[in-house]
Amino acid sequence: MASALYRFACRAFQKVFFVGVHFMPWREPQILHGAGKLKELPSQLKANGVDNVLLVTDSFLAQTDHFKSIIQYLESSGLKYAVYDQTIPNPTIENINDATHIYRQHKCNALLAFGGGSAIDCAKGVGIRIARPWTPLPLMRGTLRVLKKIPYLVAVPTTAGTGSEATVAAVISNPKTHEKYPINDFVLIPRLAVLDANITVNLPSSLTATTGMDALTHAIEAYIGYSNFNGSEDAAILAGRLIVENILTAYRDGHNIKARENLQKAAYLAGFAFTRAYVGYVHCIAHSLGGMYHTPHGLANAVILPHVLEYYGEACEKRLGFFAKAIGAVPAELDNHDAARFFIMHIRELNRSMGIPEFLDFIQDEDIPTLAKAASKEGNPLYPVPKILDAKELETLYRIVKGTKL
Ligand SMILES: NC(=O)c1ccc[n+]([C@@H]2O[C@H](COP(=O)([O-])OP(=O)(O)OC[C@H]3O[C@@H](n4cnc5c(N)ncnc54)[C@H](O)[C@@H]3O)[C@@H](O)[C@H]2O)c1
Ligand SMILES: [Fe+2]
Repeated sequence: MASALYRFACRAFQKVFFVGVHFMPWREPQILHGAGKLKELPSQLKANGVDNVLLVTDSFLAQTDHFKSIIQYLESSGLKYAVYDQTIPNPTIENINDATHIYRQHKCNALLAFGGGSAIDCAKGVGIRIARPWTPLPLMRGTLRVLKKIPYLVAVPTTAGTGSEATVAAVISNPKTHEKYPINDFVLIPRLAVLDANITVNLPSSLTATTGMDALTHAIEAYIGYSNFNGSEDAAILAGRLIVENILTAYRDGHNIKARENLQKAAYLAGFAFTRAYVGYVHCIAHSLGGMYHTPHGLANAVILPHVLEYYGEACEKRLGFFAKAIGAVPAELDNHDAARFFIMHIRELNRSMGIPEFLDFIQDEDIPTLAKAASKEGNPLYPVPKILDAKELETLYRIVKGTKL
């Protein structure tokens, strides 16, 4: 167990930070909501002084009709644009540098991300490079290091998962060091988000499942943490409810637009919640696996979530049980202890029904100390998790997630 002094130091840091964040410049993006809203992009861009925008996406999404429509709307309104379409899942520093090069070459003055969390975070990364051209990205790791306005940023999410369209975070990978980490700053909250569920209807069922479980993880980790404020609890509960009510429907019938709309709303709300109340060790572990093995973020979270909740045990039961009842995932008459246990089973069952494995057996034993160190570095002392774990305890968690019999 983490020493009493270590736990005390982490909690003291979190308390000070909790007071501090109340005075921070919180805002939400302006939202264009509903079908056909992509059409309004040019007028929004012009109204914000934009005449030349870098579109950041990936090679698959660049071929989709929705992306082609964006280009058509820009062209017919006389706006200039350039395209970076090489973002990869778990976007890298190299992606960001290449996209920044195009931004500069074409003298762009705004960014439009079309994609899942990877494209949105890549665009945020470009924003950081433009705002702070002399500081290498690895030095921006952590919280409040950018502190300078980035170019006007539009996010058009094509998955219903990360909530990056609402958050202060850009999560980036450094393949040289096998690390993946968040850069958190208020300037990274997009200025405009276009939420059109039609863009998500062709998301394959496996991605619907894993990205939806990512959003559920955001809602749960935010809610069971100690630093909820400013509507984050209500947002987490509503997000959780929308996810448990809709994820299986969207998984089985991708064209069910109501389920898609609800998941998209949930992803936004869960992003709103966790960007105020933080995530926890599920994400720390998922990020380390993304850095080391390129494990897709949603898949990692979906698998890790029940293991970490179980490991927290009594430390999270009260709030987890309450949350589970509030979102209607378990019978309301259960006490919090039983509700929490029942909810963890429910999450496992959700994963099973969507073909998500129980363990990540590719984790190599010899990597575990390095992975645990990275997870501890991300989570401690910042994340107000129900139970502080040090790197040694996190090593145990990696073994559990790998499926090792302890
Ligand atoms: N910034 C944040 O607040 C935040 C929060 C959580 C996660 N993340 C990060 O976001 C990244 C993961 O993003 P993601 O889960 O959205 O996936 P992604 O952006 O990595 O995309 C995964 C795959 O889905 C495909 N895809 C996306 N939309 C599609 C659509 N509509 N139809 C068909 N295919 C589609 C993409 O082409 C890609 O191959 C990770 O790097 C993660 O760390 C960021
Ligand atoms: Fe996430």
